Amino acid sequence: MSASGRSVLAYCRPGFESECAQELAARDAALASGGFARSTRDSGFVEFVFPDPAARQRFTASVTLPELTFARQLLCVHARIDGLPREDRLGVLMPAIRATGRRHRDAWIESPDNDAARELAGLCRSLNNALIAAMKRESLLDAHSPSRLHVCLIDVQTALIAEADIATASSWPGGIPRLRFPSAAPSRSTLKLEEALLTLLAADERERWLKPGMSAVDLGAAPGGWTWQLVRRSISVIAVDNGPMDQGLIDSGLVTHLRTDGFRFQPQNPVDWMVCDMVEQPRKVAARMAEWLAGGWCRFAIFNLKLPMKKRYDEVCLCRALVQETVAAAGKRIEWRARQLYHDREEITVFARIL
Ligand SMILES: C[S@@+](CC[C@H](N)C(=O)[O-])C[C@H]1O[C@@H](n2cnc3c(N)ncnc32)[C@H](O)[C@@H]1O
Repeated sequence: MSASGRSVLAYCRPGFESECAQELAARDAALASGGFARSTRDSGFVEFVFPDPAARQRFTASVTLPELTFARQLLCVHARIDGLPREDRLGVLMPAIRATGRRHRDAWIESPDNDAARELAGLCRSLNNALIAAMKRESLLDAHSPSRLHVCLIDVQTALIAEADIATASSWPGGIPRLRFPSAAPSRSTLKLEEALLTLLAADERERWLKPGMSAVDLGAAPGGWTWQLVRRSISVIAVDNGPMDQGLIDSGLVTHLRTDGFRFQPQNPVDWMVCDMVEQPRKVAARMAEWLAGGWCRFAIFNLKLPMKKRYDEVCLCRALVQETVAAAGKRIEWRARQLYHDREEITVFARIL
């Protein structure tokens, strides 16, 4: 069945298609658009189909990627092409791209994040170069366009032709930031906080909210990958963990290591940041985060919610409600931004701040 012009495509972590679909369905239900999800387990993407293009337009006008937790990228699908000929894929793609009547700032050919499609990376690269050249020849590229063309190769024969709104879409192909592990960092977890800061904060927010001289608490800090991200921004950190911290971080003079329980620790004075990567039941973590935010013990928080259970989407909704209710009971409101990051496995990362 073809859903040309009336579906959106969301990339997600393989294995989390159901959560991604539930999230899109919940937003769709609020708009009463009558859409439904099409997804295959472990495919790394969900197509959400609306009854007509107008319903999709209503959806995309009110739902953007930054509001979604389980989607890495959100695209509007123009067309699906089956039976791409091996000898001349571009010869079939170009007429379909032309037929959309759209000009774009850029064009990416990418594949979903699943084992089979990852093998298409080389093909995507070579086709992408040819596509850009062809679009230039046909004046289909426009430096002022607000959109980017995405051709999603589902397999060697099948493509979805879609577009992203550059203002709100992920600026990484596949929605996956390719971050290099900093060799001085004490653990790979460091990439999680780096990605969280890049994904959940805008560039100007990073500049204003992460300044040298600020203070932070890192709950569940050992061996120090998250602390390292803060210290490298000249932020002083109280690192709470019974485990050992990296000696280089201690030697920086910016880290105070406390071997105490992260669920009981309360700072003597409010700090700018609290980050938390403790492995615990998400509700227990959420309840503690709520106390920090409601109590005004920090201005900004980034925390991880591990999701080893079955009803992962429901658990996230429950944790969010729990934090919001506790904060509201203290007469405050928070902003909540959450994402299952590329470097997150069975977990999501949340940024929250008191408004
Ligand atoms: C995933 S590791 C943290 C990795 C760290 N973010 C990094 O980048 O290196 C989880 C840590 O939480 C700590 N932890 C778990 N429960 C804790 C608690 N109640 N209080 C303090 N630390 C705790 C563990 O000792 C462990 O070091």
